[in-house]
Amino acid sequence: MDNQATIAIIGGGSIGVAFAVVFARAGATVRIQEPALERRDAVLPDITRRLQTLDNHGLLEDNVATITQRIQIVAELAEAVADADLVQECIPENLEFKQQLFTKLADLTEDTCVIASSTSFIPSSQSSADTGVADRTLVAHPGNPPYAIPVIELVPNPQTRNDIIQRAEQLYTAAGMSPIRVQQEIEGFVFNRLQGALLREAYALVRDGIASVEDIDTVVRDGLGRRWAFMGPFETVDLNTRGGIANHAKNMGPSYHRMGLERGDTSVWTTDLVAEVVAQRRQQLDLSDWEDRVSWRDEQLLARIAQQHAGTKESL
Ligand SMILES: NC(=O)c1ccc[n+]([C@@H]2O[C@H](COP(=O)([O-])OP(=O)(O)OC[C@H]3O[C@@H](n4cnc5c(N)ncnc54)[C@H](O)[C@@H]3O)[C@@H](O)[C@H]2O)c1
Repeated sequence: MDNQATIAIIGGGSIGVAFAVVFARAGATVRIQEPALERRDAVLPDITRRLQTLDNHGLLEDNVATITQRIQIVAELAEAVADADLVQECIPENLEFKQQLFTKLADLTEDTCVIASSTSFIPSSQSSADTGVADRTLVAHPGNPPYAIPVIELVPNPQTRNDIIQRAEQLYTAAGMSPIRVQQEIEGFVFNRLQGALLREAYALVRDGIASVEDIDTVVRDGLGRRWAFMGPFETVDLNTRGGIANHAKNMGPSYHRMGLERGDTSVWTTDLVAEVVAQRRQQLDLSDWEDRVSWRDEQLLARIAQQHAGTKESL
């Protein structure tokens, strides 16, 4: 594989190990720094086990031994980050720890090296403040595990240089990930804000005795999630309503607004906001192609059911 990148992963816990799989599988050279001796010894077996699982599903281009040869596990930070194109910080979710690490990286890495924080909630304007590397630090928030959930949220801070954001986009794309750019720092970024919106409602429904935990999970697993496996909430409602999302907002908007008010959310889908969403959707899908796309959606749903049935038969 033609991937010349050198990636340093700091912290060999759940996310660090999963990122090692992502980058090494794509051909990059990977060095992982893990300070805890016991954990350090566990890192390679953990990676090998995950690669073996991917291989069992036919998801590796190279064999497991070839991929693990690209990975080195080290104790010292300086050794891990030498000549790195990207440092992927995967240490515990603690502001002070991250600030200390980034301060050390100022002296140990080149000015072109991207410093990416895997944090779930801490903006890099905080973690990189007064560290000397704010202009080349950004958040790169993965799903867990990133080799199975390819989206990665890139969240620059106001000082992050454009060349650093672009380099990060290239490196994650080359590693088979789907980077998206969050335009401004915001708590929870996009992934956890969307998840949070659903969880808030789910908790409220349980609290009010409307549905059980199991039934709510069933609604998502056997309902909403079926479509969300291959398209997002905007495309979903765009295809659900003849005339597209403009008609959806017109017909259903008042009902969604009342549901929001019940939960203390007074925000309105204003005419301008709906027009912006409609304009972006129509760039992606002309209404003249709407029927074809609806057929595509139905095909996708059925193909997944067929796959599940085939899997069930195989395991019998
Ligand atoms: N677990 C998830 O689902 C998930 C998802 C997305 C993002 N994240 C974020 O990824 C980061 C890592 O999370 P995790 O779940 O892998 O944590 P973890 O506890 O599994 O792993 C952290 C590892 O970092 C090591 N470590 C501690 N201090 C260190 C230091 N100074 N230098 C180097 N290594 C150090 C620890 O020994 C441990 O092995 C967190 O910021 C977390 O919020 C986690």
